Amino acid sequence: MKKAVILGVGPEAGLGAQLALRFAREGMHVLAASRTPSALEKLVSKIRESGGEATAVPTDATNEEQVVSLFENAGADLEIAVYNAGNNHPGRIVEMDTEYFENSWRVCCLGGFLFGREAVKRMLPKKNGTLIFTGASASLRGRANFGAFNSAKSGLRTLAQAMSKEYGPEGIHVAHVIIDGAINGEKGMINLEGIVDSYVYLHRQHPQAWTFELDLRTSVEKW
Ligand SMILES: NC(=O)c1ccc[n+]([C@@H]2O[C@H](COP(=O)([O-])OP(=O)(O)OC[C@H]3O[C@@H](n4cnc5c(N)ncnc54)[C@H](OP(=O)(O)O)[C@@H]3O)[C@@H](O)[C@H]2O)c1
Repeated sequence: MKKAVILGVGPEAGLGAQLALRFAREGMHVLAASRTPSALEKLVSKIRESGGEATAVPTDATNEEQVVSLFENAGADLEIAVYNAGNNHPGRIVEMDTEYFENSWRVCCLGGFLFGREAVKRMLPKKNGTLIFTGASASLRGRANFGAFNSAKSGLRTLAQAMSKEYGPEGIHVAHVIIDGAINGEKGMINLEGIVDSYVYLHRQHPQAWTFELDLRTSVEKW
């Protein structure tokens, strides 16, 4: 069975969980990962009850050993990998301690590197696979009071771009999705199902017509 690895799976009404539910419906065995085992188990039970296959793999995206182990669980049948972890916390630079800045970078950028490296390693032998990174408005512009998050997300974006150029010629589709606004469900705006549709669309694209980046926003967004 083909495998989908989603890192950054939270509440059912969030993007990570909805991606897991959709890729399970698409017939893949989903490996759902984040730091909270109870939330993962709840989602995995739901997928299994509806006839899908899923495994909870508690993983901290910033822990190299745990990320390597997550992909060892996926094995050679890895079809799609989504890096969805991201921590959007505000903070003024003059009041920010180094640890806070570094933690934001670890989750939003370093974790993406660890995840992307391990995913591509497993996709290269069969010259096939899709790797998607979740971005935000922050990926494109700095904003007052969000310097840590902005800088980390923009780092993730250029990492994704570099990986797309490095591994596209070897059959790996690397893409980046900019979610330009708040997501609904628990937080309110961009349609969650519409976002998930876009990830599926990227995954299904023909290799002679690949998109690197999609930006998604509501029709009424001022941008
Ligand atoms: N929500 C929005 O309005 C919005 C808007 C634009 C872009 N985005 C982006 O969309 C993505 C999803 O955000 P979301 O807020 O909707 O959350 P979500 O998909 O519902 O859940 C993401 C999960 O990531 C997990 N996570 C955080 N740090 C982690 C780490 N170090 N290791 C492993 N897992 C970690 C958290 O679970 P644990 O705490 O259990 O680990 C969290 O529940 C993020 O990349 C975010 O930047 C969100």
